[in-house]
Amino acid sequence: MTDTRPVPIIDLAAQLARIRPEIDEAVARVLGSTAFVGGPDVHELEREFAAFCGAAHACAVGNGTDALQLALRAYGVSAGDEVVTVADTFVGTVEAILLAGARPVFVDVDEATHTMDPARLEAAITPRTKLILPVHLYGHPAEMTAIGEIAARHGLPVLEDAAQAHGASWQGRRAGALGHAACFSFYPTKNLGACGDAGMVTSSDAEFVARVRQIANHGAGRQRYEHVVLGTNSRLDTLQAAILRVKLRHLERWNAERRVRVALYADALRGVPGVVVPTERTGARSAWHLFTIRVTERDGLAEHLRSRGIASAVHYPRPLHLQPALASAGGRPGELPVSERLSREVLCLPLYAELDPADVERVCGEVRAFQQRLVHA
Ligand SMILES: Cc1ncc(COP(=O)(O)O)c(C=O)c1O
Repeated sequence: MTDTRPVPIIDLAAQLARIRPEIDEAVARVLGSTAFVGGPDVHELEREFAAFCGAAHACAVGNGTDALQLALRAYGVSAGDEVVTVADTFVGTVEAILLAGARPVFVDVDEATHTMDPARLEAAITPRTKLILPVHLYGHPAEMTAIGEIAARHGLPVLEDAAQAHGASWQGRRAGALGHAACFSFYPTKNLGACGDAGMVTSSDAEFVARVRQIANHGAGRQRYEHVVLGTNSRLDTLQAAILRVKLRHLERWNAERRVRVALYADALRGVPGVVVPTERTGARSAWHLFTIRVTERDGLAEHLRSRGIASAVHYPRPLHLQPALASAGGRPGELPVSERLSREVLCLPLYAELDPADVERVCGEVRAFQQRLVHA
């Protein structure tokens, strides 16, 4: 009989079950303190996460999109400026640029890693460029050496979108300390996820982080009710900070457990016709936020897996230059051929630290069955 037991794309209940007493203790402590905004947990999380990344400073904020928007504003990005980025990413990357009043300029991605192709970067830089914003998509770090060299030649800061890359590294240094600053999301499904929305900006530039903090806290000056710049409210909840501090203690182990499952996937999918398996570029260590294969009959494979109880996901079905909401950025079909092709071929398979290795085998068996049928059709 066909096995159709469900395999979810992610299992947050299984993760929570492993650490429930620690989470309960942290939540009870915050409730007992009644310090719900700010307080020692937020400060300690900033210190601990900055240290994890190898950055000197961090500012906890409301979510990853805010982290990006606040960082852009703290760099002075505003109307008339251009920010060079990629279209093969989550919408938040580009929302932040547009919400800061600037124009996104898209560079196509490298096919193997789905990250900014440094060979195409220089041509996108103009006198209006204010900043370079690469994305460590799926947890794989962008080619930060080449990007950093080009940015330095033009005197431009590099802001990492590290929303999917907690614990990833490039040439031995962690995401969060690879550019001038970095932005993280702690959306619940991320490698380090809160029990709600949360985000962080990291940098080794203390003044920059102070500007982010000021904008995130209503542009507050030294005196109470003195507002020296136009700010907003994007402070991190203390409850989320306390929960994230618990989870941060487990992150390295969880990332290692993801890596074991990725190796199982890679072994089991070797030689399956028509499947491109993700790899790491030399010098890169992915956080393996997502395990994303490429196939030409993507929708057919997703449907086959679904019929067997196996979840999959498409990150992302439409590159951002072709999203109606971002039409003001002026994208045209054909402009970013690699990003556009990848958006038709990518399929993310279940991946999380608690994923049963036997389920990896089962998922791969179903992928093989579908692909072989294609070959023989
Ligand atoms: C690459 C990328 N950038 C930005 C964001 C935005 O983060 P958030 O959802 O916390 O606003 C996300 C997360 O979803 C992301 O994956």
